[in-house]
Amino acid sequence: MSTSAGLSRRRLLAGLVLAAGSWPLLGAGQQHRAKRIFITGSTDGLGRGAAVALIEQGHQVVLHARSQERAAALADLAPRALGIVIGDLASAAETKALADQVNRLGRMDAVIHNAGIFREPNRGTTPEGHAKVLAVNTLAPYMLTALIERPQRLIYVSSRMHRSGDTSLDDIDWRERRWDTYSAYSDSKLYVTALAFAVARRWRDVLSNAVDPGWVPTKMGGPAAPDDLAEGYHTQAWLAASDEPAAKVSGRYWFHRRPIEPAPATRDPRFQDRLLAKLRELTGVELA
Ligand SMILES: NC(=O)c1ccc[n+]([C@@H]2O[C@H](COP(=O)([O-])OP(=O)(O)OC[C@H]3O[C@@H](n4cnc5c(N)ncnc54)[C@H](OP(=O)(O)O)[C@@H]3O)[C@@H](O)[C@H]2O)c1
Repeated sequence: MSTSAGLSRRRLLAGLVLAAGSWPLLGAGQQHRAKRIFITGSTDGLGRGAAVALIEQGHQVVLHARSQERAAALADLAPRALGIVIGDLASAAETKALADQVNRLGRMDAVIHNAGIFREPNRGTTPEGHAKVLAVNTLAPYMLTALIERPQRLIYVSSRMHRSGDTSLDDIDWRERRWDTYSAYSDSKLYVTALAFAVARRWRDVLSNAVDPGWVPTKMGGPAAPDDLAEGYHTQAWLAASDEPAAKVSGRYWFHRRPIEPAPATRDPRFQDRLLAKLRELTGVELA
């Protein structure tokens, strides 16, 4: 295909994508409105899986990569996406700039806070001096929640490991404790799960839920992970886009489209409030 033909095709696709928002989607005998959905960490793994599934359903997806270089991994999806935003979630400055990029695209119907890291060999340090796992897995979703124009639905990708998280909140930034990669990850997922429910409690106009995707074969999960990859992202995609009454609930913890019980601390309003105070202190960002 010549360059100009390729350009015309891209323009045609872009036109179709832009027009899609006003069209009813036909699926399973029902009419649905195409939704605008932002997914963090959509270059790979579960985030990319959710992005592909939602694009194929006709939704307008905003993709995210940590850098221009990593955005190359989105080249195949870009023509069918609403946009691509760039920012390293380990950096508070880049996370704030990312929120601005999303806001410039207009209000989202849903945001899936998916990006995450595991097995960091040490605390590391971010440009703002935080433990990297805390910054990417908890501080970034907290800041994006506060700074992105409030969508109708928020989904936070958690992990069953949140159940081992430390509920003391004494040293959430790992300044005193001896580094333990599993504990740091578990803590970060305990916090992000509690954040989902704190938002559900405070923002009654928003559906806010957390999801356990299972242990699935991604870069993070490794090739031997026993659970099904597609099952790992279908729940987030469904919570973000479905008009079924079962998907339009708030303050739940989900596994494979079924609500299950999270760690009790995540539901405790005192724990949530203490956590939000710590996150405000560490980021300087206030959740309305
Ligand atoms: N896989 C599992 O078994 C499992 C189990 C429980 C929970 N989870 C959770 O599911 C979510 C997705 O995990 P996954 O298995 O799909 O992992 P993955 O394959 O490693 O993908 C993670 C995604 O997050 C992005 N990301 C990581 N650090 C980032 C940063 N600093 N700035 C911007 N983007 C960043 C990655 O970008 P790059 O491609 O550039 O690295 C990638 O797009 C995570 O929250 C994880 O904790 C996964």
